[in-house]
Amino acid sequence: MGVQRSVRFLLLLLPLMLPARLSQLWAFPFSPSLDLDVAPRTTIFSQSLLGVRRFEGSSQNYSTLLLEEEAGLLYVGGRGVLYALNTTDITAAGNPTIDWHASPEQKKQCLSKGRDNQTECYNHIRFLQRYNETHLYVCGTNAFRPLCAYIEAERFSFSSGFDEGRERCPYDPAKGYTGLLVDGEMFTASQYEFRSSPDVRRNFPFPTLRTEEAPTRWLLEADFVSSVLLKESVNSSVGDDDKIYFFFTEKSQEQMVYPSQTKVARVARVCKGDWGGQRTLQRKWTTFLKARILCSVPDYELHLNILRSVFALQERDAQNTIFYGIFGLEWKNIKASAICQYAFSDVQKAFNGPYMEVQDSKWREYTGKVPEPRPGSCITDLHRSQGINSSRDLPDNVLTFARRHPLMASQVHPIGARPLMFKRSVNYVKIAVHKVPALDGNIYTVLFLGTDDGWLHRAVEINREMHIIEELQLFDSPQPIESLVLSPALQSIYVGSHSGVVQVPMSACKRYTSCYDCVFARDPFCAWDGRVCVEISSRPHRSNLTQDILRGTRGCKNNTGNVVHRKRSVMSGDDVLLQCELRSNLASPRWTLNGRELQGYGLNSGYRIGTDGLLIIGARAQQSGSYRCFAVENAVSVLVYLYTVRVHTDLYFTEEPTPSSDPTAVSSPTAFSTDSPTEQPLPSPPAPVPAGPEFQTYRHMEAMYISLVAVLGGLCLVLTVVLLYVSFCTRRTRDRKFSHQGLQILGEGKRSSQFELATISSHCNGRQGRHGRRSTSIPTLDDLGDSFFQIIAGEDDEMSPSTTPPPAPPLPMPPPLPNMDYANGLSATLPSVLRKMNGNSYVLLRQADPDGISPLYHSFTEELNRILEKRKHTQLDIQPDESSI
Ligand SMILES: *[C@@H]1O[C@H](CO)[C@@H](O)[C@H](O)[C@H]1NC(C)=O
Ligand SMILES: *[C@@H]1O[C@H](CO)[C@@H](O)[C@H](O)[C@H]1NC(C)=O
Ligand SMILES: *[C@@H]1O[C@H](CO)[C@@H](O)[C@H](O)[C@H]1NC(C)=O
Ligand SMILES: *[C@@H]1O[C@H](CO)[C@@H](O)[C@H](O)[C@H]1NC(C)=O
Ligand SMILES: *[C@@H]1O[C@H](CO)[C@@H](O)[C@H](O)[C@H]1NC(C)=O
Ligand SMILES: *[C@@H]1O[C@H](CO)[C@@H](O)[C@H](O)[C@H]1NC(C)=O
Repeated sequence: MGVQRSVRFLLLLLPLMLPARLSQLWAFPFSPSLDLDVAPRTTIFSQSLLGVRRFEGSSQNYSTLLLEEEAGLLYVGGRGVLYALNTTDITAAGNPTIDWHASPEQKKQCLSKGRDNQTECYNHIRFLQRYNETHLYVCGTNAFRPLCAYIEAERFSFSSGFDEGRERCPYDPAKGYTGLLVDGEMFTASQYEFRSSPDVRRNFPFPTLRTEEAPTRWLLEADFVSSVLLKESVNSSVGDDDKIYFFFTEKSQEQMVYPSQTKVARVARVCKGDWGGQRTLQRKWTTFLKARILCSVPDYELHLNILRSVFALQERDAQNTIFYGIFGLEWKNIKASAICQYAFSDVQKAFNGPYMEVQDSKWREYTGKVPEPRPGSCITDLHRSQGINSSRDLPDNVLTFARRHPLMASQVHPIGARPLMFKRSVNYVKIAVHKVPALDGNIYTVLFLGTDDGWLHRAVEINREMHIIEELQLFDSPQPIESLVLSPALQSIYVGSHSGVVQVPMSACKRYTSCYDCVFARDPFCAWDGRVCVEISSRPHRSNLTQDILRGTRGCKNNTGNVVHRKRSVMSGDDVLLQCELRSNLASPRWTLNGRELQGYGLNSGYRIGTDGLLIIGARAQQSGSYRCFAVENAVSVLVYLYTVRVHTDLYFTEEPTPSSDPTAVSSPTAFSTDSPTEQPLPSPPAPVPAGPEFQTYRHMEAMYISLVAVLGGLCLVLTVVLLYVSFCTRRTRDRKFSHQGLQILGEGKRSSQFELATISSHCNGRQGRHGRRSTSIPTLDDLGDSFFQIIAGEDDEMSPSTTPPPAPPLPMPPPLPNMDYANGLSATLPSVLRKMNGNSYVLLRQADPDGISPLYHSFTEELNRILEKRKHTQLDIQPDESSI
């Protein structure tokens, strides 16, 4: 059909008509191997959080947390202040405090250097760790002149004067930095000064050690995220040393598969007992080795090469350690996260494998002879038996080799050769991992993931798939999660961010109010006891508890209670919204009328089903009856709402019914359906319509013409609003990069003739827009066809004008991304516009397509026209138990 084709063509063009900078059209095939957008089952906004305690001191930037479970203390380092909080209740009054501000002179100097008076010219605490039994060690940026000091833990006060912190703590409060205090030795990694090279250091005791600059640079613009001590000396059969692992992203030295990618994620390691070399590598590491860590989505050749956070899940035996890493894309304006999991043995294999070497100014695998003892290895019993007691006894040729070969040729691949999880539209920035025994006897891994906009996701790994149990909004104003620590003993999570510290229970089972809710959640902490959902750890006797982590379906008997009954009386011709809020984002609604399935929800059925409920458009008398809304989740149908609807005829109807209050008689769109024999009459034309074949053709063409005009008009309107909206949003988000989620236009399905139009969120500040309704385009990702297209926003280089320029945009094209939302997010304004315009929050969720042809035009033009037109005349009746009479 010509009209449809042109409409589809127009929609295809739509992204191109937008300014090129703001739009990009990506098409790609779908693959079932990795769920590319795991939806959190429930979305909990901050006002609905349970058991949360919030500490908001007089300062801000609570970036450094040190948990001491046994002492029951959480040490917090903020901007110019240190606290010792009670772990049981971080809000408890009377917590010891140390004020540690940069001196006014120092601030003045900082300002005179042109530093930011809002953020940089303060004393940001960057390092806070236990030094010995009695003392802590702390470092602060001190308005661009770092200082360190010992704190006597008992009195919680400085024990002596300050140490020079220049070599130990970065000047810049936002610079990547990591460090450890181990047995009185301080190891740190950062780019300390403004113009210095990044460095991995041992700061004390003497001799201090650092990385090498020449002839081979060991680190290239490295941005450090994490460091981990693994006690490999414990029970070592070869007399091995403990090692410290550093995780970072750096500029790549080796050849890249994609020239557009310039960075690589790395793990480096040093031996704790390293003392540097005697002549060669004096005061330098003799054991520094680094290897690339990979995190790619195989089917898309999508390489996530920016490391954001690492958690080491340590077992009693260091050899069984598992590293979890959060990765992002090099293009900062694309929100996406992948979590990859690495076995320690694979990391070790890389360090024991071949080396790389610069040959003809290119890095290649070194295939020549490797000197003995193996360069970069720790001193073991074997070395000692050869008279080599420390790194200073190593022969020169070994050290010379080590100096030129810091990089390993083998790369570390994730367990399963793919990410454990991929999430678009979300930037995870911090991770913590905990193991939880469940009722089925299995031990499940639960991930706690902090986002860059103040949310915490709890996810459980079930058979190598991630299920996000819930997303919790920890902070009202979007702000990155800066630190995340777990207390298994208190079953608490402590989260530090710009505005405060939050204590969250690891689980809140009470929130699940029915057996199905409890079981569907698949939360290994929670089980149904017949009455309420409880933490299984709180019950010594567990035989009567119900839980089903593996499938999330089994164990519940009938759904008793929790069904909401409502009565509605409406006038004929009115629109009625029967609300059916589904708590679970994974559930989809199912409606019955008088026990019969409401099917199709086609254009002329008089019904629309949305995420909020069922809309009866222009109620007719025969639509009276008993409506039931079921939440279908994990293929189980649970009754949640029961409505008794009475439609009164125009006995009460005083107002002149307008043509548009009849759903089938609205403006142009019906003209599309000329092939439908069941079509209702067109709106009465101004002149009598002569019959005859010629006129049929004429009318047909006219219909096409009108509809084309309508479509174009609709698109123009939509575009205008989109552009206004975008310019509004870009202005608002120039300084802050928050996610903008929104509508995706999904279509062109091959496997399925259905399409989905779902609002995600609509406000400029991302998550805030979700108060109306759940965020994610929930259950139908699998239903989508082989390909789809989407309107997405492109780069916005205004985003960080003051910082170093982001990596050059990929050329020619970034690898195809799964339906990604850009951070400056035009992505979906369309339905949200639609939403705003009606003043009601309902959207078209799903619609069957009778012809198997893309029904996209139904969605926009018709729906928009229809609704806009209708809103002029009728008011939606959304108040429960209210009548329109
Ligand atoms: C400190 O917090 C403020 C907001 O309270 C934020 O704008 C700033 O970027 C933060 N600074 C650092 C270094 O995190
Ligand atoms: C923390 O608070 C609990 C109860 O309020 C109290 O029993 C405990 O002693 C406190 N711990 C510390 C270290 O003050
Ligand atoms: C920072 O500088 C701006 C202008 O340079 C000034 O308006 C503002 O008051 C200063 N803020 C502080 C905290 O000094
Ligand atoms: C811990 O270190 C501090 C600072 O060096 C020192 O004064 C104190 O005596 C040490 N405590 C113990 C128990 O070694
Ligand atoms: C290494 O230590 C052993 C015993 O502690 C000693 O006999 C030997 O001389 C030392 N070797 C070197 C090179 O220092
Ligand atoms: C549960 O459902 C079964 C059949 O579906 C019914 O026979 C039984 O009475 C119901 N039990 C309760 C407690 O509702």
